Amino acid sequence: MKKTNRNEPLNKFLELNKKRKPVSFHMPGHKYGRFPYQSKSGNFAEYDITEIPGADNIQSAEGIISDSLLMISESYGSDKTYFLTNGATAGILSIMKYFSNIGGSVLVSRDCHSSVVNGAVLFGVPIEFIPIGFVNGIPRPVTAQAVKKAVEASKTCKAVIITSPNYYGLAADMGEISDYLKSRNILLAVDEAHGAHFAFCGLHELSGLNNGADIVVHSLHKTMPVYNQGALIHIKGNAVNYNEIYKIVGMLGTSSPSYPIMASMEKAVSCYRQYGRKMYRNLAAIVGESMNNIIAMGFAFLVNDDFSRLVIDVSLKNANGYRIYEKLSHMGIVMESCDARNLVAITSPSNDRSDFSRLEKALKSISGDPTASEKSVSRDISWNIPEKVLDVHKAVLAKKHLLPLDRAEGSICGTIIVPYPPGIPCLYPGEAITGEAALQLRYIVEEGGVVLGLDRGMIPVLE
Ligand SMILES: Cc1ncc(COP(=O)(O)O)c(C=O)c1O
Repeated sequence: MKKTNRNEPLNKFLELNKKRKPVSFHMPGHKYGRFPYQSKSGNFAEYDITEIPGADNIQSAEGIISDSLLMISESYGSDKTYFLTNGATAGILSIMKYFSNIGGSVLVSRDCHSSVVNGAVLFGVPIEFIPIGFVNGIPRPVTAQAVKKAVEASKTCKAVIITSPNYYGLAADMGEISDYLKSRNILLAVDEAHGAHFAFCGLHELSGLNNGADIVVHSLHKTMPVYNQGALIHIKGNAVNYNEIYKIVGMLGTSSPSYPIMASMEKAVSCYRQYGRKMYRNLAAIVGESMNNIIAMGFAFLVNDDFSRLVIDVSLKNANGYRIYEKLSHMGIVMESCDARNLVAITSPSNDRSDFSRLEKALKSISGDPTASEKSVSRDISWNIPEKVLDVHKAVLAKKHLLPLDRAEGSICGTIIVPYPPGIPCLYPGEAITGEAALQLRYIVEEGGVVLGLDRGMIPVLE
């Protein structure tokens, strides 16, 4: 067994990070405890209880949890809402289990989170992918046209699951997609993990719940002042049996739900439903001013649907996104992620003007630094759907070995490979590894990017 002489490495890292007082442009949305409601409620650690008398029970909620969910459901405009204290992942797995019960196949937008395919594997759901496009390395949301084409080609599809908005703040044309699916009696589930705040900041018209989706999952902790793992699953309309969803959520979720997480969701929703518009108007003004200052330095921004999600294109400055990300991080400004061309920032009303001033100052000093400009071959990510050689369920169970990426072309992938960003799986078990995919993965690894699914830089392939 491997030994370590590092004592409490996790706590030491967290203490050190706390001392650095970094600016957070990443998840979670509370930005190191800047809860807008903290002055009233104090420290949530004091709320860490179990099912004591009066505390209700998440698995058969009839008291305070049920009442809290009524308020949250009303705020989002759903018909039923349930807490998830294991993140949106638990909600997506529950949806896939529900889909396995209704039978038929599920069409999945290719930019889905890995939990969708994990759910398909766990519950034996046959899936087919709906392709998406890329522009300058940035994935575009699935289009209504692509959904229609995939549905028409499928003989067995009973449900569709799409991601909107995506990691880059781009939203799908939900209204058209949902109208079409309704006309075909096909269920629509929306992974709206990145859009939990839409209901409170003037972007509700883009949301699944406002556009006829049957099930929607929100990851509140990503953009709202909520503890990590705080998420919700909503049901709207009569097409989905919500008692069955509730049962499944209970089976897949923890039996010891975190009251601090649930309480932080309740507080965030109750605060945002009262003051969200105003808070986001303030944020929009700060963001707008800061963007102008950053554009004046020669950077550009992606034009997207979510003004709180900033995608800073550094390529006009001939700079490398990975280098700038590292340099910013050393200066105490931590972005959500980067790629060769872009930096992604998740902002929320918990960020204040001084956070943006520090970012501007740092970008100004970096942009004059020649070491940030060593732009290596910019490889824009653009994943085409590779050839499916073996069914994903069979490929997961097959024997595998590891291959270095430069020898992987032509082999069959043995696991889900997810480069961050864009956080979208580029290869699934059973798919043929193309030379281009292997090259792109090598590039991301060499640049210091993160690729989940690789093992010490090597890729698991089928024997
Ligand atoms: C699109 C999308 N869906 C779902 C998830 C899972 O969310 P959670 O971390 O709340 O489990 C993520 C996480 O990054 C995501 O990006």
